[in-house]
Amino acid sequence: MEKQIYTILSNERLARDIYRMELEGDTRGITAPGQFINIKLEGFYLRRPISICDWDDTKLTIIYKTVGQGTEKMAKMGPGNRLDILCPLGNGYDLDKISDAPVIAGGGVGVPPMYGLTKALIEKGKKPMVVLGFNTKEEVFYEKEFRDLGAEVKVTTADGSYGIKGFVTDGFTAADYGCACGPEPMLKAVSDKVKHGQFSFEARMACGFGGCMGCSCETKYGYKRICKEGPVLEKEEIKW
Ligand SMILES: Cc1cc2nc3c(=O)[nH]c(=O)nc-3n(C[C@H](O)[C@H](O)[C@H](O)COP(=O)(O)OP(=O)(O)OC[C@H]3O[C@@H](n4cnc5c(N)ncnc54)[C@H](O)[C@@H]3O)c2cc1C
Ligand code: FES
Repeated sequence: MEKQIYTILSNERLARDIYRMELEGDTRGITAPGQFINIKLEGFYLRRPISICDWDDTKLTIIYKTVGQGTEKMAKMGPGNRLDILCPLGNGYDLDKISDAPVIAGGGVGVPPMYGLTKALIEKGKKPMVVLGFNTKEEVFYEKEFRDLGAEVKVTTADGSYGIKGFVTDGFTAADYGCACGPEPMLKAVSDKVKHGQFSFEARMACGFGGCMGCSCETKYGYKRICKEGPVLEKEEIKW
C-alpha cells in the first residue's frame, strides 16, 4: 500500500447519484479485482474507501454514489484536481479459486468491483454470468460495459422498471460458484444459492490498512479485519 497523489482525468455522472471518476497515478501495486482505495478529502478526518472498478498501467477507475458530504464533495471535483490516496488496500478476489462458469452478482454500488473481476475472469478464458441489481431504472449503470467485455448480463430492478423484476437472486438459478458485492442481505441471499463463493463486505473504516482493528468482524476462523484480510471473504468462513 502506497500513499500517492493522483490526478483526476474525468468525473462524470453515470446514473442517478452515481459518478465515475478516472484517476491518473501509480497503479503498480494493484494485484486483484476487489481491492479498494482510501481517499483523503480536505476537511474530513477519515478517508473514504471506494472499490477499484478497473485499472491499467497508468490510471484507475472508481464509481461512487453520493450518499453524504464526502462523496458530494467528490462529485464537484473536475479534471486536474489532485487527490491523496492510499492504493491498493484489501485482498481482492482470488481468481484461481473461481470456477469456469461462475455467477457474478453486483448490487448498487457493489457493481463496480465486479466489472474488474468479470474482465479478469474473461481474460483467463472463464465464462462468467453477470447479474446486476438495482432499485429502479434511473439507478442502472454499466450494463453495456459488462456486455462489451463479452459476458452474459442480466439486470434486475426491485420495482420492475427495467429488466427482471426482483433481486439479483431472481436473475440466476442455483450455481456451483458465485462472487458478489453489495448490501449484506444480498450477499447472504446469493450465498444461499451457490455451493462455494467469495463475497465482498463493507464496514465503517478508520485507518483502512489494518492498524486500528475498527473494522473487525467475526468469522468461523476468528476475527478478521475487513480492510486487510477482507473485504473479500470465502463462503466457508463467513458467520452471517
Ligand atoms: C471496502 C469498501 C469499498 C467501497 N466501495 C464503494 C464503491 O465502489 N462505491 C461507493 O459508492 N461506495 C463504496 N463504499 C462505501 C463508501 O465508502 C461510503 O459510501 C462513503 O465513504 C460515504 O462517504 P460520505 O462522506 O459521502 O458519507 P458519510 O457522510 O460518511 O455517510 C453518509 C451515509 O452513508 C453511509 N455510509 C458511510 N460509509 C459507509 C460504509 N463504509 N458502508 C456503508 N454505508 C456507509 C452512512 O451510514 C450514512 O448514512 C465502499 C466502502 C467500503 C468499506
Ligand atoms: S479500518 Fe483500521 S483495521 Fe480496518
